[in-house]
Amino acid sequence: METSAYIRTENVRKVYNPGRPDEMTALDDVSITIDRGAVTVIKGPSGSGKTSLLSVIGCMSRPTAGRVFVDGKDVVKLPERFLTGVRRKKFGFIFQQYHLIRNLNTLDNILLPLYPTNMMPPEMKRRALAVMAKLSLSGKQHSRAKNLSGGEQQRVAIARALINDPAVIIADEPTAHLDRGLAAEFMRILASLCGEGRTVLIATHDPFIYGHDLVGKTIAMRDGRIEEER
Ligand SMILES: Nc1ncnc2c1ncn2[C@@H]1O[C@H](COP(=O)(O)OP(=O)(O)OP(=O)(O)O)[C@@H](O)[C@H]1O
Ligand SMILES: [Mg+2]
Repeated sequence: METSAYIRTENVRKVYNPGRPDEMTALDDVSITIDRGAVTVIKGPSGSGKTSLLSVIGCMSRPTAGRVFVDGKDVVKLPERFLTGVRRKKFGFIFQQYHLIRNLNTLDNILLPLYPTNMMPPEMKRRALAVMAKLSLSGKQHSRAKNLSGGEQQRVAIARALINDPAVIIADEPTAHLDRGLAAEFMRILASLCGEGRTVLIATHDPFIYGHDLVGKTIAMRDGRIEEER
């Protein structure tokens, strides 16, 4: 298999509130490539456009201009229904605040992304048990999210991102609430996901992450532009 770019953006621009006094150009002429089966980090100061770029790549928002290719397909012009389909099939998301539902238990939180699909309940359960085992959460299946430790909550968030077997894991500031030991564990988990051929994309300003040996490519952003890609 060739080691090619799995994701490519071409001259992407994202303008929020165009034509209004609060108009904001969050992404300006962004052209990058994200390699398959590797960890790519997007770093840059607060407000530089990291989250905006992740949401355009992850098919959560459309760019104002430019093109985004995922696995060779231009997703920008896709009708909403297909864009949602690409998002659900190709991507798993880990958010900074984890976005777990506090009163649901581990199992039910992990199952959330599968409800909009037509998957049969026995298959959903089988997948959930497998990802829980992989992330050492089997013993916490029935614990409510609000009673889990920070590291456990993060593993539930990772498990939920993996439940649809995504080709790409997108993580936005994933270590913001973790100590060094848990951040190191997080990176070990990512290494194993890359080992399975998954593509990992992380936005962070945590030097521990962007300085890590596992990182294949670092993209530095400033004021909505790419400052450096190496
Ligand atoms: N929905 C929105 N409407 C208007 N402006 C927005 C919106 N989302 C982001 N912005 C603005 O776009 C710019 C880039 O924001 P973005 O969230 O992409 O930055 P970031 O690099 O992720 O920052 P942080 O490190 O603080 O998370 C900021 O100036 C922000 O205020
Ligand atoms: Mg952000």
